[in-house]
Amino acid sequence: MAGEKRIGILTSGGDCAGLNAVIRAAVFRAAELGWTVIGLKEGTMGLLSRPLQYEVLRPETFSGTVLRQGGTILGTTNRGNPFAFPMADGTVKDRSAEIIGGCRELGLDALIGIGGDGSFAILRRLAQQGGLNLVGIPKTIDNDVGMTEVAVGFDTAVAVATEALDRLQPTAASHARVMVLEVMGRDAGHIALNAGIAGGADVILIPEIPYSIEGIAAKIKQVRRGGRNFALVVVSEAVQTVEGGTLQKEYHGGEKRFGGIGDYLSERIASATGAETRVTVLGHVQRGSMPTWRDRLVASAFGVHAVDLIAAGKYDRMVAWSNRQVIDVPLDQAIANYQAVELNSPLVTTARGLGIYLGDLPDATSAR
Ligand code: F6P
Repeated sequence: MAGEKRIGILTSGGDCAGLNAVIRAAVFRAAELGWTVIGLKEGTMGLLSRPLQYEVLRPETFSGTVLRQGGTILGTTNRGNPFAFPMADGTVKDRSAEIIGGCRELGLDALIGIGGDGSFAILRRLAQQGGLNLVGIPKTIDNDVGMTEVAVGFDTAVAVATEALDRLQPTAASHARVMVLEVMGRDAGHIALNAGIAGGADVILIPEIPYSIEGIAAKIKQVRRGGRNFALVVVSEAVQTVEGGTLQKEYHGGEKRFGGIGDYLSERIASATGAETRVTVLGHVQRGSMPTWRDRLVASAFGVHAVDLIAAGKYDRMVAWSNRQVIDVPLDQAIANYQAVELNSPLVTTARGLGIYLGDLPDATSAR
C-alpha cells in the first residue's frame, strides 16, 4: 500500500450529470488504499473561505442514491477566478495565495479537479504556483475538452436533447409544424450533432459550419415534397446569425449569455417556407438530469484512475477515454487542444449521408 495520503477533490465550472459518480468512485478507490478524501465546497471558493469550507468524504457518505443523483454534492461555481477575483468594491484581486494556503492548512498531498478546460487552466496555474499535485478529470456537457473522446456529463445531455426531439416529433406531426430545438454546447456543436442524428432531425446547425436560410428552406421543402408534414431542426446556442455574430442576452449585472438563435431561425424559416414554426429552448434541463448509465460508467472509471495516478505519483495529468481505454494525458495538452466538431468526423459524414442539412461546407458532397 502506498503511504497514507490526504486527497482534496473539487468540482469546478458548470455542473453536469455524473459528478457525484466521479466523487464516489474517487472516495471508494481511496478507501481501498486507506486514504482520506476531503471534499472542497463550491470549487475553489471553499478554499478561499475562512474557515475553510470542506467535508471529509467516506464511503458511507454515498448511500445508494448519490450515484444516481444529478448536480454535485460539493457545489460548484463558474465564477471567481482566483487570479482576478471580483471584489465587492468593483476591483479585482489576486487571491491565489489564499487558495494555496487553504490546501496547505488541510495538509493535502494531492488535488483532484473535476472540470472543463477553463477550470483546468486555473487549477494548473494554482498547482504550479503552490507546488500542488494536481490530477484533472474532464467534465462538461459541451464535450469540448481535448485529448479525450468523452467528458463526464455529455452523454446525459445528449440523451436529454434526444428525448426532447422524441417528444417534439408527435406534436410537430399533429400540427404540421417545423419544430426548432435550441441546445447548449457553447462554441462546440457536439450536443446538437449527436442528438440531432439520434433524434431524427432534418436540419442540424452547429457553430463550426456556416449555413444559409435558403439551404434550410430547401431541406424543409424537400421533406414536404416527400410527403412528410413536419420537420425537426436542432440548433446550437452559439450558431451565428446570417448577418454574422452570435445572439446573446444581457442579464442583471451586465452578464451576457447565449440565447435567441432558435427564435431568430424560427422566424426566418417561417417566412422562407410558409411553415408554422415553434421553438423550444432546452437550457439547463440538459445538465440537471439523473446521469445515464454511460456517464456513471465513465465517471466511475475516471474517478478510480485519478486516484491510481496519485498512487503512482503521476501528476499534472488528465484522465481520458480513448479507444476503449482509460488513459491519462498531460494536462497542458488537454487544455491546449480544444475539441470542437471536426469537419471530417464520422458523425459529420453520417449526418450528410442521412441527408440531414448540416450547413454549407464548400465541399459538402466530397465530405462523404
Ligand atoms: O459549459 C456548459 C454550459 O452548460 C454551456 O453549454 C452553456 O452555454 C453554459 O454552460 C451555461 O452556463 P450557466 O450555467 O452559467 O448559465
